[in-house]
Amino acid sequence: MTDKRVATDLAILGGTTACAETLHTHRPGDFDRERLLTRINEALDRRWLSNGGPLVQEFEARVAEMAGVNHAVATSSATMALECIVRALDLTQEVIMPSLTFAATPNAVRWAGLQPVFCDVDPVTGCLDPQRVAEVMTPRTSAILGVHLWGRTCAVDELASLAEERGVRLFYDAAHAIGCAVDGVPVGGFGTAEVFSFHATKIVSSFEGGAVVTDDAELAARVRALHQFGKGGTQGGINGKMSEPSAAMGLTSLEAFPVAVWHNTQIQHLYREELAGLTGLTFFSPPPSEATNAQYVIVEIDESECGLGRNTLLDILEAENIRALPPIGVPTCHQIEPFAGDRARESHPVALPYTERIAARTISLPAGSSIQFDEVRTVCSVIRCAVGRGLEVRRALDLHATSKLATTSA
Ligand SMILES: Cc1ncc(COP(=O)(O)O)c(C=O)c1O
Repeated sequence: MTDKRVATDLAILGGTTACAETLHTHRPGDFDRERLLTRINEALDRRWLSNGGPLVQEFEARVAEMAGVNHAVATSSATMALECIVRALDLTQEVIMPSLTFAATPNAVRWAGLQPVFCDVDPVTGCLDPQRVAEVMTPRTSAILGVHLWGRTCAVDELASLAEERGVRLFYDAAHAIGCAVDGVPVGGFGTAEVFSFHATKIVSSFEGGAVVTDDAELAARVRALHQFGKGGTQGGINGKMSEPSAAMGLTSLEAFPVAVWHNTQIQHLYREELAGLTGLTFFSPPPSEATNAQYVIVEIDESECGLGRNTLLDILEAENIRALPPIGVPTCHQIEPFAGDRARESHPVALPYTERIAARTISLPAGSSIQFDEVRTVCSVIRCAVGRGLEVRRALDLHATSKLATTSA
């Protein structure tokens, strides 16, 4: 790798592209492929490929153990898990949640005929701000749905007190947060129930998949009934089951989890080391009281301090063949349909300044098990050059754009 030192070293300004091949983020990481294929072969030999087979049962037991709870119900996706839990909790009318989340969070509530109500987040954690939650609560509120965003954890104690005081349910979308913990308590046991995602891009993957985890046996039984056509329950249901091949992948991926966390943590350290001292760049990362799976590396860019905005930095990285992205949850839910077009603003009755600020300023840097340490150094070289020389780069880009325009119109 040649270090990028001056603005014209950047590919967007005519320099050589940093990566010969596109550097993707959150591609599936390494796992024991032989072990996976053996498990799938065993399932094929058993001729038991779905309907709560032994692999799904084993996966559920492992997930419950990791979450520190008594029950896990594996589902076909986290979205399905959210849809089942919303129904199992018999919620009514309004559910408060952040807008800074993936669309699956409000969609699951909306599909059940309920009204998602977005509330602003804490500017430091990006998770629900309990004070703002209290402000948007109405007699119609039946639940608070927190999201442990990018592996940061919500203010679990404050939200629990608020939910208890107001007599509403509290549950969590923990799609990003398997293996995370608050003061040693694993994510999975907060609120009435939590939901994990095992999508292919997540640190634990079952190709597609999710789970509801809870200590409430009755609730787990209701979710179990709901996700298998209503069998054994009274509410009817849907087909949201996890298949045996998915559970085979989930189990194999869980075995790779400690190495994945180690790798991700090294990547986080390396980013911090390489980008230390850059003005205008702040890492979104947890305090020592929170354990994290470190699967996302999120930085916030302050244009007023470094001269470059988030979108410009994304363009600069893209020109280098580096696929950095706005983080999951950006654009935010109140900025996309169907919620943006909600004229009565039932979904966003209040302003969401911190939500919009974080959404406009953050980048998800290449991370995950498929990213090598040298690739992190390459990304950092580009960022150091771009952000460290922000004003110079900004002026050069403006000049570049003006001369391009002149050439086109000549
Ligand atoms: C916060 C959040 N919730 C829910 C989901 C949906 O997960 P799944 O793809 O497993 O349905 C995602 C997916 O990325 C997510 O980021």
